[in-house]
Amino acid sequence: MDLISALEGLVPELEKGLDQASSLEGLEALRVDFLGRKGRIAQIMSQLPKLEPEQRPAVGQTANSVKERCNELFESRKQALEAGREAEALKRFDPSIPGRAPWSGTLHPTTLVMEEICEIFKGLGFEIVSGPEVEIDYYNFEALNMPPEHPARDMQDTLYITDTVLMRTHTSPVQARTMLHRKPPLAVVAPGKVYRRDSDLTHTPMFHQIEGLMVGEGISMAHLRGTLTAFVRAIFGGDTQVRFRPSFFPFTEPSAEVDISCCICGGKGHIGDAPCRVCKTTGWVEILGCGMVDPAVFEAVGYDPEVSGFAFGMGVERVTMLKYGIGDLRMFFENDTRFLGQFAR
Ligand code: PHE
Repeated sequence: MDLISALEGLVPELEKGLDQASSLEGLEALRVDFLGRKGRIAQIMSQLPKLEPEQRPAVGQTANSVKERCNELFESRKQALEAGREAEALKRFDPSIPGRAPWSGTLHPTTLVMEEICEIFKGLGFEIVSGPEVEIDYYNFEALNMPPEHPARDMQDTLYITDTVLMRTHTSPVQARTMLHRKPPLAVVAPGKVYRRDSDLTHTPMFHQIEGLMVGEGISMAHLRGTLTAFVRAIFGGDTQVRFRPSFFPFTEPSAEVDISCCICGGKGHIGDAPCRVCKTTGWVEILGCGMVDPAVFEAVGYDPEVSGFAFGMGVERVTMLKYGIGDLRMFFENDTRFLGQFAR
């Protein structure tokens, strides 16, 4: 009968142990010690084969009721400990701590800079207009003094949809569209997407341009230069220098490309001892094409050839790269939120 009293003796011992157990982890250790496969009950029961067969059933019954009792004791102690833990957590909960701000998206840097450019031109009296991205040949080329077979069509690799329908290769068709349904004087800027069959490190098949057009009486190259200088200083800073280089576009005459003093090296061509990679040590970077509207364009849209005006077009990704010192065009299209999130405002 030794075994029976040994088994029954476990209950008060367990009660004492449970009173001292102050954590769920300690409780579990205790449970293994008493009820585990090699625990104290199991150890006592391993003596069973030594008893006479007729003594065994009584020991087995005692073992079962002791196990049951032990389980009950564990369960109620466990519930008490869990309740205590919850109360503890509630005591530590501080409702005055501000919550975590919900994650929110940001506007794409291209969008932000496009909006900034538009705001600057609005401030100079320009209106915002738009035109379709799927264009007809007439507005993209012909009305802009590029008849079929004109070699200048090759300046831009065009994505054709049919023989006469294409993805616009620049925002200049919006000039033609605007002049066709409005009379001068006018001053507009047209932001939007443009498409070219071009894809390498520095070219993407889609990018953004902003077109500008001002037409009126006596509009001259001086107005163009003044407008663009004001714009460049507003977006790149008041110290930025501007230079016009003669160039060619079929729809402007004369035409120019505009360079600004390199905003990465401050126009010095080098940063400390290192050559500036952005301006390739020249101190200047090109930002846009422009010129005086060619009389052939005025004729195509039915304007009096005596009016005059200027037009310009710039790449928004390019302006953004220069403004923020972004070295790789691909970042605009990778949608890496570590990059995009830096432009939150
Ligand atoms: N459309 C020209 C381009 O995409 C830029 C431009 C616009 C040049 C207006 C002159 C006048 O290259």
